[in-house]
Amino acid sequence: MGKQKTVLDIQKMKAEGERIAVLTAYDYPFARLMDLAGIDVILVGDSVGSVVSGYDHTLPVTMEEMIYHTRAVVRGSSGAMVVADMPFLSYQVDLRDARLNAGRLIKEGGAQAIKLEGGVNVAPIIRAIVDMDIPVVAHIGLTPQSIHRMGGFRVQGKREEQAEQLLTDALAVQEAGAFAVVLEGIPAPLAQRITEALSIPTIGIGAGIHCDGQVLVIHDILGLCEKYSPKFVKRYADVSETISQGIRNYIREVKDGVFPGEEHSFK
Ligand code: KIV
Repeated sequence: MGKQKTVLDIQKMKAEGERIAVLTAYDYPFARLMDLAGIDVILVGDSVGSVVSGYDHTLPVTMEEMIYHTRAVVRGSSGAMVVADMPFLSYQVDLRDARLNAGRLIKEGGAQAIKLEGGVNVAPIIRAIVDMDIPVVAHIGLTPQSIHRMGGFRVQGKREEQAEQLLTDALAVQEAGAFAVVLEGIPAPLAQRITEALSIPTIGIGAGIHCDGQVLVIHDILGLCEKYSPKFVKRYADVSETISQGIRNYIREVKDGVFPGEEHSFK
């Protein structure tokens, strides 16, 4: 693996028209596999709450959980840039909390950057964190921490006034100092408009082909999470079936007295 990617590499990729490949990871083995495969950025997403902890949404995820998962991912990555999500309630209440919690993800977690959700409403928070020399990725559109306001996981920006607001949000987070922005669950033409209007890279998820990069949840692309599968997910492997088969084989061999064999026993 080459030297670890930084904000400068990510910005250069936009300038040179190279697409940015991002995946989520929450532990050492997955981080190591995607790092070896050459992923550009690993996001320790608060989606850990849904795909690892089994919650219906991301709201219960805590700072302690994010630090724990970030540490594991950092130990598994040497080439990819590691970005850690700020969980719900870790940055919205006041600027002091926001700065402290962002700092903890860097100092205790070992991340190189943090991500938080929101547009114009969080611009002062982004500015405060960037002023501590912590790189920030913004996240607008379908922001999962706003599930109760949105009334579910719904595509955002379909109506013209919503689309205008999202463009305003994108410009506000860029102005506040974010070095990249995730565009989630918005129409592809709007994502294209935003991407063309910004100098920082856009990373799409359910936002079409015109973004500067793409991010997906690792469990979704490997078929590891059957709870729900959004339209924007492409499944690149069906790991669940392989795992289930391995577990069934183990159970059968234990029941039949086949495992452990001589080769697994000490003399
Ligand atoms: O939490 C997460 O995994 C995310 C990505 C899906 C963008 O925010």
